[in-house]
Amino acid sequence: MITTKETPHIKPNGVEIAETILLPGDPLRAKFIAETFLEDYQCFNEVRGMLGYTGTFKGKKISVMGTGMGPASMGIYSWELINVFGVKNLIRIGTCGAMQEDIELYDVIFGMGTATDSNYGHQFKLPGQFPLTASFDLLQKAKKIADEKGQKVHIGNILSSEIFYSADPNAMDNWRKMGILSVEMESVALYWNAIQARVNALCILTVSDHLITGEKTTTEERQKAFTKMMEIALELA
Ligand code: HPA
Repeated sequence: MITTKETPHIKPNGVEIAETILLPGDPLRAKFIAETFLEDYQCFNEVRGMLGYTGTFKGKKISVMGTGMGPASMGIYSWELINVFGVKNLIRIGTCGAMQEDIELYDVIFGMGTATDSNYGHQFKLPGQFPLTASFDLLQKAKKIADEKGQKVHIGNILSSEIFYSADPNAMDNWRKMGILSVEMESVALYWNAIQARVNALCILTVSDHLITGEKTTTEERQKAFTKMMEIALELA
C-alpha cells in the first residue's frame, strides 16, 4: 500500500511497504537482502539507520527491514508496521544460540512457540499465562517450502530473552530441561504484537552459536548460512 503516513521511527516518503515483511535484527542485513535477492527495490526507511526496503521476489511484493535487538526495539518497529502501515505477515529472520545437543551450528529453527523472561506482555493485563505462538498458516507454508527444498528444520519452542549477558551462568539450564530449542531476543514482542492485532508472525532462525558446545560462527560464515533461511523466508511472499 502506498502511504503518506509516518511515525517517529519509520518515514517511508511515499515508498510502499508490502503486506509481507522480512525482519532481520541487523539493518545492514536488510540492505544485503534487498541488494542480493530483490528486484526493483527502493529504500523506505533510514531513520536511526534502521534500513527498510521494498521490492519484488519472483514477481511478488515484499519488504525487508531491520528491527534492532531485544523486545523493546522489535516492539516499536513491529507495532508501527502492523498498526500504522497495515503489514499483515511479519517474518523475523535472525540468529540464535542452540540449547539442545541434537541441534548443530547453521541449523534452521522455526519458533512454533516462544517462552520468555520478558514482561512485554504485562501490558495486556491477562489474568494468567498466554501461549505465544507463531501463525499456523505461515508455519505450515514455511514447513512445506523447507520440505520441497529438502531442507531440514527443527520446529518447537524457543526462548525469547531480554538478557544477553546474564549474571547467572546457569540461567539457561531450566529452560533447556523443558526442551527449549534455542534462545534469541525478539520473538516475544513480535508474537505479542501480531497476536493482539490478529496478523501473522513467524520467527525463523539460524543457529549462530551453541550454548552447550560453546561453538560459534564467524561473521562471514553467518552471512553464507543465512542464505538457507532466506530462501525459505522469501518464498513466503
Ligand atoms: N542469546 C541470545 N540471543 C542470541 C544468542 C544468544 O546466545 N545467539 C544469537 N542470538
